[in-house]
Amino acid sequence: MRILFIGDIVSRPGRDAVKHVLPGIIKEEEIDFVIANAENLAHGRGATVGTIEEMQDAGVDFFTGGDHLFWHAGFDVDIKDLPVIRPANYPDTVPGEGFKVVETDKGRLLIIDLMGQTFINEPLSNPFIEVDTILDKFKNEKLDGILVEFHGEATSDKVAMGFYLDGRVNALVGTHTHIPTCDEKLLPKGTMYITDIGMTGCIDSVLGVKKEIILDRVVRAKKQKFEWETVGRSEFRSVLVDITTKEIRRVDRKLY
Ligand SMILES: [Fe+2]
Ligand SMILES: [Fe+2]
Repeated sequence: MRILFIGDIVSRPGRDAVKHVLPGIIKEEEIDFVIANAENLAHGRGATVGTIEEMQDAGVDFFTGGDHLFWHAGFDVDIKDLPVIRPANYPDTVPGEGFKVVETDKGRLLIIDLMGQTFINEPLSNPFIEVDTILDKFKNEKLDGILVEFHGEATSDKVAMGFYLDGRVNALVGTHTHIPTCDEKLLPKGTMYITDIGMTGCIDSVLGVKKEIILDRVVRAKKQKFEWETVGRSEFRSVLVDITTKEIRRVDRKLY
């Protein structure tokens, strides 16, 4: 089972990058299932039905979330009818589900979404405890793969989660920082791991936001509303995880 996981798709430049390169990658890499982080899909923050459908048309099969997922009004209702999960360690008062079993052409895949507690101001429970509870629910079920996304700020949390889940899940991929890491590897007990896939979107920006706005903020203490960069160079960032061969490899494309 060959899965492509696309890092946080940011705004229109990110969506355009996906539309431009994903159909070719699916063919070239013989991808069976495509997952993407959707928390920044619609104008940099949140997702909408329209932007999810736009990405489905480009070849994305399933979506995960993060701290920005519910930015747009109505998505708390819409999520129930969409192939989108949100972090599992949110309380039950948050709409949507934190994990799901999907049927792919190559078998049943359990996808779990978790969020780190460090430096993220969200109402979260301990993701290490939460993932144990979820895995326990499936201990007697026949699954062909288990993939965990850890949406976290602290690299140390992600590395720790990798070792915590080593040998218990097929892959753990990190998202949220928008900066790609090059530490993809097979952990000692056979779990594929990467700290952060990085964002898909404008690279001449500060994590997707117009650089002038951030520089005004940090140099001149001038607070402005965040505007997301819409022009300039874009990159597509993803990782390929092959559940059968245990290959994990970055699949990145420059669109310039
Ligand atoms: Fe993000
Ligand atoms: Fe995030």
